[in-house]
Amino acid sequence: MFNSISNQASKLINLTKNKQRVSKTKLLTITSGKGGVGKSTFTGNMAYLLSSRGFKVAIIDADIGLANMQVLFDMKPKYTLFDYIEGKVTIDEVLLKTPYKNISLVAGKSGYQYSNHSNSFVFARIVDDIISLNEYDIVLVDTGAGLNEYVKEFLSISNNILAVTTTDPSALTDLYALIKMLSKDKEQLMLCFNHTKNHQIGNTISNSLINLAKKNRLNDNFMVKYIGNVSTSANISTTGRLRKLFSYEFKNDDSTKQLQAIIDTLLKNIK
Ligand SMILES: Nc1ncnc2c1ncn2[C@@H]1O[C@H](COP(=O)(O)OP(=O)(O)OP(=O)(O)O)[C@@H](O)[C@H]1O
Ligand SMILES: [Mg+2]
Repeated sequence: MFNSISNQASKLINLTKNKQRVSKTKLLTITSGKGGVGKSTFTGNMAYLLSSRGFKVAIIDADIGLANMQVLFDMKPKYTLFDYIEGKVTIDEVLLKTPYKNISLVAGKSGYQYSNHSNSFVFARIVDDIISLNEYDIVLVDTGAGLNEYVKEFLSISNNILAVTTTDPSALTDLYALIKMLSKDKEQLMLCFNHTKNHQIGNTISNSLINLAKKNRLNDNFMVKYIGNVSTSANISTTGRLRKLFSYEFKNDDSTKQLQAIIDTLLKNIK
């Protein structure tokens, strides 16, 4: 029963996937191949820096089953994405106010057994519902690591994707797998490097990836755009442990300035 309803809904969603959105809300999905590279740290702090520039931001913790964005915002969420999916709360109720002005969070839930909702589109539906509110300037979707069907679904509905990576060979191997997949039907991937002190290193590695993509004859129209780097910083790990945002606590830190520069370039590229 649930499956047949899901199949019908899935078809409808596919039909509407490519339709022009009229909302002012931009969508940015943050992803990576490898885990632990700094996606959630970037997402939370980018949200704060965007809000301090006057944007109204919603974050969706789309790391199905391993949610941790509420930790970064030091919140004990009353409702989670799953309450919304299960129809227990409205979209306004599930968009929780964070301690930071103009940032709302749709929290995830750690340890959630999502086999009840085997269709990934059920989760991604919330993105369109938030965009339809036309209330937020930007929605940041923090995905989990890897390329499971949930991550793929959130990527498939997003026209702005930011990959976070490190220079670690295994992270770069996973990143290339992501590039390969996205090149099939996306126009571009924005790329930033974490734990990388030297801006030029990110640029050089990005160019190598682009050359590899050319050599392997991936879609010519697909662009990988390097948008900056963040160094390793003790302030980032300490604030993370203390459930605080480094960009708020250390406004003049190099890492905050590096993330600001990433946002400058991101805002020029976002569609
Ligand atoms: N530039 C940095 N300097 C120091 N510590 C960092 C930096 N970036 C992230 N960290 C720390 O690394 C850890 C992993 O970061 P984070 O949780 O953001 O990664 P993630 O990609 O979201 O992981 P997952 O794939 O598990 O979701 C955290 O403890 C965070 O504080
Ligand atoms: Mg994370």
